[in-house]
Amino acid sequence: MASEVLDVRPLDRCGASIDGIDVTCATDDQIDAIRTAIFQRGVVFIQGRVLAPEEQIAFARRLAPIVINRYFPKAERYPEIAKVEKSESQRTNIGGAWHTDHSYDVAPSMGSVLMAVKTPPEGGDTLFADLYAAYDALSPGLKATLRTLKAHHVSAHAFGEGGHYAKSDRPELGGFKDTPEAVHPVVITHPGSGKPVLYVNPAFTTRFVGWTREESMALLSYLYQHATQDRFVRRFQWRAGSMAIWDNRCTWHHALNDYQGHHRLMHRITLEGGPLS
Ligand code: SIN
Repeated sequence: MASEVLDVRPLDRCGASIDGIDVTCATDDQIDAIRTAIFQRGVVFIQGRVLAPEEQIAFARRLAPIVINRYFPKAERYPEIAKVEKSESQRTNIGGAWHTDHSYDVAPSMGSVLMAVKTPPEGGDTLFADLYAAYDALSPGLKATLRTLKAHHVSAHAFGEGGHYAKSDRPELGGFKDTPEAVHPVVITHPGSGKPVLYVNPAFTTRFVGWTREESMALLSYLYQHATQDRFVRRFQWRAGSMAIWDNRCTWHHALNDYQGHHRLMHRITLEGGPLS
């Protein structure tokens, strides 16, 4: 991907790496180039130092306005930063299944800025799937059918009373009464790239509008196994100071939970998006 102001290296399957940048003193042109890389490649990876909360917030604000996550614990004095954390004694991690952030919102998030503060000695990688490529690889017939559909995106079964987290050893992440739902087209036009992309995800999409759950799951399950094939998925290994900035409209991610007995702490900032069409 040509960029005169940044060393953006496209990676196979999904994403791009950006070398040699200190995001705390990026120029406006570099910020624009980072945003373009996210829109085109889905996720960018930057290896740097652990940023202070003020630095991460200031950088994220240059990409887009910040939205406050409803459910996750916040960094002390910095509500903009959600703590994605698992302690040595906890079993359940945050984001431990394929999903995209905030698809249950009427105006879903544009992206997320995740920085590793503390990583386990091994494991705790994150998988990213390229939904542009997954959509492109479908047959013309299935694409045409999907373009006629809308789907329900729901948060209650994850964050609500009796939901996944409420029933786990992380009840502080669940039991909420404020559990938004939204309907979005199954194929959207990405607002930043203009490209068509599949916009359903295994965590929050429950059914197609006008279809039963059972009918929907037959097709959704096919799409989920299709999009998570190795050919569309990149695995990212973190070290303290690594940052991933992903686009929630054209990727899914999955935080692997293979580091029981160790502490992992990430600081996540969610970026504002808008209604999808
Ligand atoms: C998330 O799902 O936002 C967190 C991903 C991770 O911790 O790797």
